[in-house]
Amino acid sequence: MQAGAELQRTLWFDDENRCLKVIDQTLLPFQCAVLTLNTLAEAADAIVSMKVRGAPLIGITAAFGVYLSLRADPDSLVSACEVLIKTRPTAVNLRWALARMQTSLQNVARPLRAQHALLLAQQLLDEDAAACSAIGDHGLTLLQDIFRRKLAKQGAGAVLNVLTHCNAGWLATGAWGTALAPIYKAKLAGLPVHVWVDETRPRNQGASLTAWELGRSHVPHTLVVDNAGGHLMQHGLVDVCLVGSDRTTAAGDVCNKIGTYLKALAAHDNQIPFYAALPLSTVDFGSVDGVREIPIEERSADEVTHVQGRDRDGVIRQVQVSAPGTAVSNYGFDVTPARLVTGIITELGVFPATPDGLRRLRSLSPEASSGVDH
Ligand code: MRU
Repeated sequence: MQAGAELQRTLWFDDENRCLKVIDQTLLPFQCAVLTLNTLAEAADAIVSMKVRGAPLIGITAAFGVYLSLRADPDSLVSACEVLIKTRPTAVNLRWALARMQTSLQNVARPLRAQHALLLAQQLLDEDAAACSAIGDHGLTLLQDIFRRKLAKQGAGAVLNVLTHCNAGWLATGAWGTALAPIYKAKLAGLPVHVWVDETRPRNQGASLTAWELGRSHVPHTLVVDNAGGHLMQHGLVDVCLVGSDRTTAAGDVCNKIGTYLKALAAHDNQIPFYAALPLSTVDFGSVDGVREIPIEERSADEVTHVQGRDRDGVIRQVQVSAPGTAVSNYGFDVTPARLVTGIITELGVFPATPDGLRRLRSLSPEASSGVDH
């Protein structure tokens, strides 16, 4: 592997220069530029403009944003959290990370707050990397089971076909990714795996991020338009769907990038297992009805009316694809009801997407045993 997924990081703290470094995801796959974040405003802007994105990474960036704010003004804990919580509404990891920062720092003496905030943000980053690695291990066992059954039916030459939506790889997390972690681990374990990558309109996270990530790790993959999934499934070309999540409820409803629900419906119609991979920080235990309760981000019309790409001269440009003045709606996420979800792959194992399954997950979580509410 030119770049093993296990070594890849999309965000790190630069100790020497005392700043946060992130890969600017708006320039991928054409440029892998590293951005320096020095202030709360820069961290908040990186989240809003989606230079950093993906549920776990949004939370981690916000945690470092709190540190950047506190080192400039030790009195700014509450105001920094107020700024950061408004950056994006759907991924619950943001609220989770800010709650952890606030709970841990509010009783720390002001002169020591920045120093503690940095340690805590780094801990959140390391915890997420470890959680994603464990998700990869549990997901690998599952993929191996599915592949064993396929091999028994088809014999030598069988390939495991996974369909994924959006980007839930190392770019979106502390390391490894959520939905992509089992795929990277499968590749490392020698499983013949192939990934169908949904392009994920309107921002094309599949085309520009997931395909780029998989390519760097030499994981065989094919980019498809978002509407191809149903056709592929009807023709036996998908063995399992594996997606990430921005918020999963206590009932097992999975909120993820817009279009995920349609993939789950097609998977259900074709008896194809549909799994969501997510760390505990993505579970909103206070929510039971995903469709009614999860706030769905609505983004700018430009993302629908224009597409970004590289022209023949190598210049990154945006071009318009619809008639000027066309009315647009741009919901960023949808909710897949629990009944369409085969299971939830977490760092603590694979659980049924049911109230009982989520209750069991919660009872096993370290936060349950420490008495900290999630
Ligand atoms: O709008 P984005 O790109 O932040 O949306 C990201 C997704 O929907 C991912 O699938 C989700 O955050 C899981 S990331 C591990």
